[in-house]
Order: sequence, then C-alpha cells, then structure tokens
Amino acid sequence: MTTSSNRRLAVPVLLALAAAAVLLLPATPAAAGQASGSDEVTFTKHIVPILQRSCQSCHRPNSLAPMSLITYDEVRPWARSIKNRTALRNRMGAMPPWFLEKDVGIQAIKEDMSLTEQEITAIARWVDNGAPRGNPDDLPPPLEFAGPGEWEMGEPDLVVVGPSASRDADQPDWWGALPAVETGLTEDRYVKTVQVKEVGDSARTIGGRFIFHHAFFALIDEDGNQLDNGDWPTIHDMRNNPRGYTFDPEAGRFVPGNSRLQWDDVHLHSNGEDTTAHLEIAFQFHPRGYEPTKRIGRIGFGTADIDVLPNRDGQVRHFYQTLQQNVKLTMYAPHMHAAGVRMCLEAIWGGRVETLNCAGYDHNWLRYYRYEEDAMPLLPKGTILHGIGYFDSTAANPNVIDPRNWTGFGHRAVDNMLLVLAPAFILTDEEFEAEMAARRERLQLSEGDTVIGCPLCGFEELPGQPARPAADQQ
Ligand code: HEC
Repeated sequence: MTTSSNRRLAVPVLLALAAAAVLLLPATPAAAGQASGSDEVTFTKHIVPILQRSCQSCHRPNSLAPMSLITYDEVRPWARSIKNRTALRNRMGAMPPWFLEKDVGIQAIKEDMSLTEQEITAIARWVDNGAPRGNPDDLPPPLEFAGPGEWEMGEPDLVVVGPSASRDADQPDWWGALPAVETGLTEDRYVKTVQVKEVGDSARTIGGRFIFHHAFFALIDEDGNQLDNGDWPTIHDMRNNPRGYTFDPEAGRFVPGNSRLQWDDVHLHSNGEDTTAHLEIAFQFHPRGYEPTKRIGRIGFGTADIDVLPNRDGQVRHFYQTLQQNVKLTMYAPHMHAAGVRMCLEAIWGGRVETLNCAGYDHNWLRYYRYEEDAMPLLPKGTILHGIGYFDSTAANPNVIDPRNWTGFGHRAVDNMLLVLAPAFILTDEEFEAEMAARRERLQLSEGDTVIGCPLCGFEELPGQPARPAADQQ
C-alpha cells in the first residue's frame, strides 16, 4: 500500500453504533415488563422463556449451578433470590453472570445472555405478586440438553482424553504441566469448533465440583516441535465455553497428523471434596482440503505494577499498550483477581478517545464478551489501548478473603492481576483497508459517521490532509 489520507480526527464520539445495536437485539419473548394492569406476569407465560434463554444452560441437571430452574416446583423456592440476583444487573453476584455495562461502549455481543430492563422488571413483578404459576397451556416446549457423555457443540470428529489429576479436599493450589497424550489423528486437519469438558468422578448431577481452575494446551508435532497456533481461546473454563468455541470460518486452527496434545499450563484448585478428574477436548474439523486465509494472533497486555491498599474501595490503576500492527479484536476479555470489581478499555487514536467497553468483574466468573462480526474493533497500528482497573479491597467485596491485607501482582487468586487477553486478527494495511471498506458497505456508513471501535471507518478520504505514512516507512 502506498498512501492514504491522514485520518487524525478530533470529532466527538457519538454513540451511533450503540443505537444501531439496540435495534439489532432479538425481540425477547418476555414482553411482560410492558404488561399493564390486568396482564398478570406468570411463570408459564413470561418467566419460563427468560429462564430458558438466560439461566437453564447452567441451572439444570448435569451442569454447574447449585439448583435446577426448569419446573415450577424447582423455581418457586428461589423466587425471592432470583429477584435479588437479577436486580444486581452487571454488578458482582448478578445472575445471569454477565457483567458488561449496557450504557457505554460496544453492545453487539454474541450469545448475550443478559436480561433486558423489561425482563428484570417482569421478574420483580412476578415475585412481588406471589410468583403465580399461570396457565399450563402457555408453557413453551422444554429445551433439550446434551446428556452426560454428549457434546453441546454436536457430534465431534475427534476427542482427546487428557490425563487424570487429583486434589484432596483441602490441598493447596498446584501449577504445572500434565504429560502429553497422542491425538490419534493420522492426517493434517483444520479445526472449526472446539469444546473442552472437565469430567470428574463426583456422582453429583447438580452443582458439579471442578478442580481445573484453568488449563491451556499446546500441540506438539511429529518432530517434537510445539506449534505456534495463534491463541486457542480454550483456556479450559467450563463456564465460558459451554457450547464450544467456533473459530472464524477463515481462520481454522491447525492440528497436524501424528501430533500430541499437552495441557502444559494447568492450575488445579481444591473444591472442598476429594476429587479426581480429567479434561476431554473435542474437535470438529473443516472438510479436507480447507486452507485458512486469515492469521490469528493474540493481543495480551496489562501491568504487574499493581499495588492494592488494604480495606479501601475505589482504587484505580491504569495500563497502556501501543499497537504495533493493525488488529481486529474478537472479544473483550478483562482479567483481574479477587479484589477486581470493574475494568474499562479505551482506544486512543489521533485526537479520539473512545471507550470500547466497560464491564463489572466478579472473580468467580471469568467472562469473555465476543463481538459480533461488524462490532469487532478495527484498530489501526499506532492506536493506544488504555485499560482501567477498579479495585475494592473492603469486606463489601465477598471475593476478598482478608480486607486487612495489602496485595500486589501474583498468580494466586488472592494476589492481583490486571490485563486484557484476546485472540485478534493481525491485518496488513491492505487487509485492514479491505475490512473497513466491507464494513462501511454493510453498515451503510456515510462520510463522517462515527462507529465505536473503528476510528477510521467513517472516513474514506480527508482532502488536504498530509498523507498517512506508508507501512514501510514506519
Ligand atoms: C453461566 C452459568 C449460570 C447462568 C447462565 C445462570 N446462573 Fe445462576 N448460578 C450459577 C452458579 C454457578 C451459582 C452458584 C454460585 C453463586 O451463587 O454465584 C448460581 C447461583 C444462583 C442463585 C443463588 C443461589 C443461592 O444459593 O442463593 C440464583 C438465585 C440464581 N443463580 C439464579 C439465576 C437466574 C435467575 C439465572 C438467569 C436469569 C441464572 N441464575 C443464570 C450459574 C449460572
């Protein structure tokens, strides 16, 4: 690429995309919040659709939540607690555990399980009104779930079973690598979707007990080389990928034939019961002959300079990173530890400062917010990313074990972290321009429109401005 116009702009940031995104949200079945007067909110008509969409993926047998929320008899005893937890919205302890703030930043997020204001109001009205059951004929058909031994993502092409690991009820944490295992794959293939499960020996069907706090894996080829495969976003965390993770169709991940798979970065954590468990990883492949056309990398940055004072709310820490390449971010993945309660990420380019996202943080839930295709931030090299972490080390934060302690950076949950991790496409200048052009077209942008996360999208040419330096001069 030679030159293109300088697009350093000082236009105020408008919330154009946010407004558009609201229109794109699917209509929710529970329009109950709008029900007026005689229109009673009932379990069968209004509450079940909410539970099906936002709660039952976890609140059902063979999953991780402490109780099932499927039948009326199961739900009724929890009515008041449901009202309280849903009213927390994006704050710590909220249900569903989804903490993205809705009044700022990019809102078009895949698999968004959050509740609308109408739904939260409907739940509150239902509970305050004695949680009536309603007409059984109003019940929607029940959801079907994968049984034990089945995969939510569908039939896999390959399952690799990892080695067992154990933790006694009260053992300290363990970090390390587990022995590599053969994948059993005899030819090179590219992965379309991947899902990881922890399979334990516990007989529980409700409120599963896990010992794998997290686990990363690596693939090792026939010659013993560890592959650099960009980032597999499958840090094992059951709560994050309950339905598996589907890669961008143009960026499938490579698994060589005759390779081995190693869980090489594992953190085990006791759960209060003696437990033995292993990880199973399932792959669905692209058809033979498929070749990826995009490169995926990982944006990961943060700071280890975190000094959190004891017993104090409202502590704020900042961190910065200048992008050396053009990137397309695929998700917002804030990572903190126990004292963390909120993180925001800003993109600074030229004179523009825009908040990409803010999210509450609850260290019981490591959430990723995956952007819809046309909402993925397209950030030119030179963009400064600015992260802002908020800490509360008082007893009001239930994740803090002892508010009297000073804490610094470290790997234990009681130490602190402050970083952003995300698979990102690394784009050449040509690819970057092409991505922006395609987005302008799809979103029907006019010259001068502002789009959060794409500082240059609204500007094809700015006449009279000095040229942006070509890539090879930088
Ligand atoms: C991603 C999994 C997940 C989803 C989705 C989810 N929950 Fe939960 N829920 C949990 C887990 C795990 C717990 C136990 C830990 C805790 O209390 O935070 C829990 C706890 C609760 C509790 C407190 C139970 C107690 O012991 O007091 C309530 C009430 C609740 N959930 C309601 C809901 C409702 C209502 C929804 C949907 C609007 C929902 N949850 C969505 C996993 C989930």
